[in-house]
Amino acid sequence: MRSSFPCAQNCRRHHCDFGKWYYGEGTERMGSEPIFQEVGRIHMQVHELARETVRLVGVGDQGGALAQFETFEEIRARLFEQLDSLYFGAEVDAFLKDARLFDWKDEYSVGVKVLDEDHKRLVALINRLYKATQAGETKSTVGNVLDELLDYTRTHFRREEELMRTHGYQGLPQQIQEHARLLEQLTGIREQFHAGDVSLSGEVLRFLKRWLMGHVLESDMGNKKFFNAKGVA
Ligand SMILES: [Fe+2]
Ligand SMILES: [Fe+2]
Repeated sequence: MRSSFPCAQNCRRHHCDFGKWYYGEGTERMGSEPIFQEVGRIHMQVHELARETVRLVGVGDQGGALAQFETFEEIRARLFEQLDSLYFGAEVDAFLKDARLFDWKDEYSVGVKVLDEDHKRLVALINRLYKATQAGETKSTVGNVLDELLDYTRTHFRREEELMRTHGYQGLPQQIQEHARLLEQLTGIREQFHAGDVSLSGEVLRFLKRWLMGHVLESDMGNKKFFNAKGVA
């Protein structure tokens, strides 16, 4: 785009390569962005200046043409700055829209719908934490997600234990013990975070991923056969 801009000839704003992109694909992709609209205004200024410069050269006013050309260069530099922030902003937005630490996979299913739904929600909450830290969200926003993760972990553990109790699962005491240990770890992270001792670094987030998936895949998965045999789906 840069190499095809500016239109040094006396051309119209829709007709240069940049103009074709701007009024075509560019408008379609980011027409509503305020910076994009500003870019459009600067682009028109560039054309006016280019026309004026060409006119001054035509009438033999070299000094005037040179002065116009300097202004033209300044405005062109401003246009490129705006384009950089437009592209950079769009790239960051696209990255953040998809930002997540890991995805849920069907093979993580423990065969009980309500538990799978809980596990998926926990994966989503850890991903939300990751996204919030990547986006540089405020401490209170990140803290709220962390609180929600802790609350929902408690809800899920209670639900899982209740289901095991209802169906007389013999491994219940071990599950209760492990759930308590996991809650203690998460509570520790939350307390340190709120006390300002830790930021949620990549290391902490990766720990949370292992913290959840280790339990789902190693412990909860061990209950799959039991629940299947009991007809719990
Ligand atoms: Fe679980
Ligand atoms: Fe569990």
